Amino acid sequence: MADILSQYRDKNVLVTGGAGCIGSNLTKALIKAKAARVVVVDDLSAAQKWNVPVDPAVTFIEGDILDEEILKRAFKTGFDVVFHLAAHFANQNSVDHPETDLLVNGLGTLRLLEYSHLTKSARFVLASSGCSVYGSQAPLPLKEDFVSLHLDTPYQITKLLGELYCNFYYNYYGLPVAIARYFNVYGPGEIPGAYRNVIPNFMWWALHKKPLPITGTGEETRDFTFVEDIVDGTLRLGILPEAVGGAFNLASETETRVIDIANKVNELTKNDHGVKLVPRRDWDKIVRRRASIEKAHKVLGYQPRTKIDEGIKKVYEWILQNRDQIEEDATF
Ligand SMILES: NC(=O)c1ccc[n+]([C@@H]2O[C@H](COP(=O)([O-])OP(=O)(O)OC[C@H]3O[C@@H](n4cnc5c(N)ncnc54)[C@H](O)[C@@H]3O)[C@@H](O)[C@H]2O)c1
Repeated sequence: MADILSQYRDKNVLVTGGAGCIGSNLTKALIKAKAARVVVVDDLSAAQKWNVPVDPAVTFIEGDILDEEILKRAFKTGFDVVFHLAAHFANQNSVDHPETDLLVNGLGTLRLLEYSHLTKSARFVLASSGCSVYGSQAPLPLKEDFVSLHLDTPYQITKLLGELYCNFYYNYYGLPVAIARYFNVYGPGEIPGAYRNVIPNFMWWALHKKPLPITGTGEETRDFTFVEDIVDGTLRLGILPEAVGGAFNLASETETRVIDIANKVNELTKNDHGVKLVPRRDWDKIVRRRASIEKAHKVLGYQPRTKIDEGIKKVYEWILQNRDQIEEDATF
């Protein structure tokens, strides 16, 4: 990681969605790397300003990626690397708000690509979703060359759409694009809420001494990946020449049952209210999920390091440190 970080020294970088879970951790890493300038664009629709790292190198632009005035302010010059993480997140949110999902994840990504191309930015990294683009009928482990038309939510469709636009800008204009396919990311920086991921939400319910709601049987598995490992892989995609033109799974390559996550959270937080099973959401057809990271390992040297127990502990510590803010800002 130190080796990769050092390559960001003095670079000029854009992070869209930099107030969010992954974007804020990515921004912290770029500060550590002594990047010359990190421009963060985020409209705070799903995040809080206090989560944006403060540093002389960071310029925070509060605004919508669909707003051309905001894009013109951000793209006064091209960037060495554009990390496009802003998105309408995630499945249930897209089922409830399909048009916003299309505008932000579709048109928003198209505009980011266009501005990156026009300003001759040197690299464009898209935050795509392995949980989305492989659909519900792919064989395990999930590999990059599998293509699915069996997508179950607008979010899954627009994440694939973003990838297809990237391929167009790469093939037609030669924009150096690299695609990150993330899997079930968790870590400090994610505020619990109605549309948020299972780990911070379990923490929330546990801290409120409530049973943890499991949508399904609890036997479902996911490939939970700690945010620092995701940041490490993303930084590799932003700088290594071998990444250009490719899509790479960034995952832990480990299947963990949701019930095991719930039990770990209850044990850590000393919550003795157990779990409650609620019906699986009707769009959720994926019972098991495990990625292959062979390609990212071979081509980029990507190697996730954080085991689930350690990662969950770090989330818990972050929630305790920011408890008052999180109580105010959680969106249930
Ligand atoms: N967290 C995961 O498990 C996961 C898995 C696969 C892919 N991803 C992708 O990674 C990226 C980051 O995910 P995250 O977990 O940090 O999500 P997040 O919701 O925490 O971050 C997204 C950020 O984008 C901002 N945003 C939303 N709409 C915007 C708009 N129109 N203009 C400007 N900013 C806007 C939000 O305020 C938020 O801060 C997203 O593209 C997401 O689709 C995440």
